[in-house]
Amino acid sequence: METRVVDHPLAAALLTKMRDERSDNATFRSALRRLTEMLIYEAARDAQIEEFDITTPVAVTKGARLAQPPLLVPVLRAGLGMVEPASALIPQSQVGFVGMARDEHTHQPVPYMESLPADLSATPVYVLDPMLATGGSMVHTIDLLVARDATDITAVCVVASPEGVSALERSGHPVRLITATVDEGLNENAFIVPGLGDAGDRQFGPR
Ligand code: PRP
Repeated sequence: METRVVDHPLAAALLTKMRDERSDNATFRSALRRLTEMLIYEAARDAQIEEFDITTPVAVTKGARLAQPPLLVPVLRAGLGMVEPASALIPQSQVGFVGMARDEHTHQPVPYMESLPADLSATPVYVLDPMLATGGSMVHTIDLLVARDATDITAVCVVASPEGVSALERSGHPVRLITATVDEGLNENAFIVPGLGDAGDRQFGPR
């Protein structure tokens, strides 16, 4: 599986804002929006384009657009804050939704919502979730996508753990990972260390 870490000074500065426990909800959401733009920019680097004719004020020339805009799939709640910047960069994108909450004790994902197109066989999919911890939520989401025949899946995360990366690899699914960092590991509560805490709580408050 391909793992691409977006290694850039501006991304590092935004990630620092998100990690810092002194950042309030609004500051955290703002940094996530900016950082998501960089992650999506990298996710789309190899996307196919199609050319079409346009006219500038001076001459006729070739324009370019994405041949197949991706379906964006935020994993609720934390992925919600990534939808607006991603769809602003790729306005033709449609959006599907998956809702999942990790059980505090078992650390297993508990699905509570699913709203996806039935046939994804011809559609690239970008799954948006700031955290890849045990990988359970991401693997379960990708199970849902593969059941709809998706073959081109990109997990777009901010912070990943080595355990989460391994879980994605072991799943055998057709997925690549774009992330701002792969951190040290998980603690006894399956939180990423050093991480940034709970990305849902830090955007929206505790649930
Ligand atoms: C967090 C996070 C991911 C998931 C990662 O969500 O946003 O979706 O856990 O953990 P995993 O890789 O071990 O599955 P949480 O369940 O806290 O829900 P929330 O987004 O609503 O806060």
